[in-house]
Amino acid sequence: MSDTKPGKTLTLKKKPAAAAPDAEQKRPKRAGARARQVAQLEREREKKQPTPAALPVAAPAPAREADERVREAPPRRNRERSPRAPARAEIFRVFAPCPHGLEDALAAEMQALGFDDATPDRAGCQFHADWTGILRANLYSRLATRILVEVNHGPVHHEDDILDLAMDTPWERWFGAEQTLRVDTSAIRSPMQSLQYCNLRAKDGICDRLRDREGERPDIDTVRPDARVHLFLTEDTGTLYLDTSGESLFKRGWRLEKGEAPLRENLAAGLLALAGWDPSQALMDPFCGSGTILIEAAWIALGVPAGIWRPFGFERLRNHDARHWRDIKDDARSHIATQLESPIVGYDLDGHAIDAARANLERAWLTTDAIRFEVGDARHVRPPADTGWLVTNPPYGERLEQEDDALWADWAQNLKQHYSGWQVSIISSDLDLPRRMRLKPLRRYPLHNGSLDCRLFNFEMVTASYRKPK
Ligand SMILES: C[S@@+](CC[C@H](N)C(=O)[O-])C[C@H]1O[C@@H](n2cnc3c(N)ncnc32)[C@H](O)[C@@H]1O
Repeated sequence: MSDTKPGKTLTLKKKPAAAAPDAEQKRPKRAGARARQVAQLEREREKKQPTPAALPVAAPAPAREADERVREAPPRRNRERSPRAPARAEIFRVFAPCPHGLEDALAAEMQALGFDDATPDRAGCQFHADWTGILRANLYSRLATRILVEVNHGPVHHEDDILDLAMDTPWERWFGAEQTLRVDTSAIRSPMQSLQYCNLRAKDGICDRLRDREGERPDIDTVRPDARVHLFLTEDTGTLYLDTSGESLFKRGWRLEKGEAPLRENLAAGLLALAGWDPSQALMDPFCGSGTILIEAAWIALGVPAGIWRPFGFERLRNHDARHWRDIKDDARSHIATQLESPIVGYDLDGHAIDAARANLERAWLTTDAIRFEVGDARHVRPPADTGWLVTNPPYGERLEQEDDALWADWAQNLKQHYSGWQVSIISSDLDLPRRMRLKPLRRYPLHNGSLDCRLFNFEMVTASYRKPK
């Protein structure tokens, strides 16, 4: 029933403890080797000046440890143009939004990254961090959509209060007329008539303050701004956030081939978290499409930080300490593993989807043997190991063709016959799916995939669950 497993040379669960360089050289280079090699090259390229060797930190260091590695910011050249940089010890209140349904998983992820006070909130999580912690949250979080730093908060009963709040915020610390700006506004239960007008008031407040202080206003660029500000309104308050991420964090920088109805990368990572996948165990997606779930999984198993190959908004802000940021990334790159411990396998009925998945695999700097992508029918394919996790996003909803009842019955038959010992997790907007498959879920997690209200159904395939179809 099972294919041969790759040799176990590395315990990925314990991967944060850095492998001895010797042992690593002896290991056959596979899977993440390419990612690591490219990271190495990039590191060389980036190093215009010599920097101290990466510290021997085993895991992504907790925020407070990382703090100790911060070097002083370079001396300011112009007092007018370079106001106070974030002080080393300054602590910020942070809100990290995420897809609905991943709040607890995100708070757990942030805690694991060292943000001990991370607590789930509506469609996101709150925590406190210093500036280094904010950079690390951007680099490492697989579940967050953005990392927003609170820069002001106050009562808002009238649109003019927004203007005052924005004028009262020291924007010159972060950006000025040399940066372009975009402002977005969202609200829950706000009595304001027009969010567009609120947005305009916030923008005016920011620009007026900068003009008063520095003589010039930043230009607005809604497509590719240097600086992004978010205004969040409630019934009677307003909060201004500086967006440190820039483009949404689910954009890892590898996706080219979209395929049909691809998942966002942070939702894919969320499915793996809610499924409870153990990265040292086999993983399969029999409706893999362009391969999002499996590529995300390979990065998790190899310890490739989610943001290692993408730019961030904070890099375009005033006082960005490029050298310190490079040190943080150097440390992260030095912990990328070279070998996967267990098979990761994807099938799709559509050959074009498999081509797209293979192209994405390549663009994610993984070797072709990291994930086995093959054309296959979920109704017939067999698992690659005796036990493991199947995590999948089969066709559903308005996005794809009319569901086919026979497909679910036949697929369920295959699972019941051949996948005992497997944990099966399926995301679907079809709330009736367990009934169609004649399977009882252990857990069901409400989730949003874009605008679709979905559930992640977790099933455990045991021999007893096999019943002949009526
Ligand atoms: C929602 S898409 C998966 C998208 C994927 N999660 C991604 O991020 O790209 C569902 C996929 O199931 C595939 N599919 C449909 N019926 C199938 C079957 N019987 N066996 C295998 N794949 C099938 C479709 O070709 C499609 O690529």
